[in-house]
Amino acid sequence: MAFGRRGRKTMISIIELSDLLLFLAIIWIMSTENTLLKNVKTVPTILLSNALSMPIIGLGTWRLNRNATDVIYDAIDVGYRHFDCAHIYRNEPEIGKAFKDLLQKHVIKREDIFVTSKLWNTFHEPSLVRNACETTLKNLCIEYLDNYLIHWPMAYKEGDELYPKDENNKFIASPVDYVDTWKAMEPLVDEGLCRTLGLSNFNVQQIERILKVARIPPSNLQIECHPYLNQTNLMEFCRSHNMVVTAYSPLGSPTSPYKKPGKYPILQNPKVLEISDKYKKTPAQVLIRYQIDRGNVVIPRSANKDHMLENFSLWDFSLKADDIQALNELCFGGRYMIMADAQGHPHHPFADEFS
Ligand SMILES: *[C@@H]1O[C@H](CO)[C@@H](O)[C@H](O)[C@H]1NC(C)=O
Ligand SMILES: *[C@@H]1O[C@H](CO)[C@@H](O)[C@H](O)[C@H]1NC(C)=O
Ligand SMILES: *[C@@H]1O[C@H](CO)[C@@H](O)[C@H](O)[C@H]1NC(C)=O
Repeated sequence: MAFGRRGRKTMISIIELSDLLLFLAIIWIMSTENTLLKNVKTVPTILLSNALSMPIIGLGTWRLNRNATDVIYDAIDVGYRHFDCAHIYRNEPEIGKAFKDLLQKHVIKREDIFVTSKLWNTFHEPSLVRNACETTLKNLCIEYLDNYLIHWPMAYKEGDELYPKDENNKFIASPVDYVDTWKAMEPLVDEGLCRTLGLSNFNVQQIERILKVARIPPSNLQIECHPYLNQTNLMEFCRSHNMVVTAYSPLGSPTSPYKKPGKYPILQNPKVLEISDKYKKTPAQVLIRYQIDRGNVVIPRSANKDHMLENFSLWDFSLKADDIQALNELCFGGRYMIMADAQGHPHHPFADEFS
């Protein structure tokens, strides 16, 4: 009898325990789903000069070291809706495969995603611009780009080789002026192939030359930006010309082939660690927030889903002005992406940094 009662009690508590576990599992599933949903709904956008909305965080796709199709699947799942691509990254066809599939399955609608791509240096000759854009569209399996940039101001010799070099292994320049390239970009907007145009890796003088002739002015500038290269001047210049700045390598590009060593990698800088402790956030989250809180769009690259999620979970804090200032003051002109291969090109944007 006593044994029987104990048995029943145990049965009941096992049932209760399993109910409890089930209940907890449901709560957990709901909360993860909610986080993802919340991310999608709350990713703020910034309004470009032509009234197009650009999500303030996007996924960089250079050197993913992983099947780019799968990276896009994960990124969409995490909530990324802005993708930063380029012909020279040589993975647009893989990215396009994911877009095509997700669009066909109605997981996303075309207007839900913001896609940037970039005209490579060997296609600056005005007669090649339209074809280069169409190739990118074909590769990405979409009918228009949201944003098309001139990747670098330097034109390289036209042809099949993306990095044309002579017998001394020196790059071969093309005499095309990026101002003429810009004039060939503008009709792409008229014809609906892209919604807005911008520049990447241009310096102030070069942007001014474009602004002087532009019928459709650049709405955005993409540049390397992190505390070692705070870009305050270029940001102010852009603001005064209605251009949004997009920061690439916000974490200091740990895998960049170009090295200009700071004392510490940015992610390990003691100041960055101190600030991340203070906010109870990871250094990467602080560095990404550093861009957002200064009004920039930011495009960290990550191929790993956990990193993506962490790099995307930024909406519950912002940096105080004195912490932003402390990060600004870490600047020593530490540029990783110096494009040393093109040293000596008359349109090299950072020529004065080689000395
Ligand atoms: C990349 O992943 C996609 C989808 O998962 C697959 O179809 C494709 O074959 C993969 N590509 C390579 C090169 O492994
Ligand atoms: C963010 O992504 C970068 C690059 O993949 C990674 O190094 C970093 O650890 C990620 N996130 C966080 C929060 O650390
Ligand atoms: C950015 O860094 C430069 C040094 O490269 C420094 O002079 C400037 O004060 C910094 N910007 C801000 C806003 O602190």
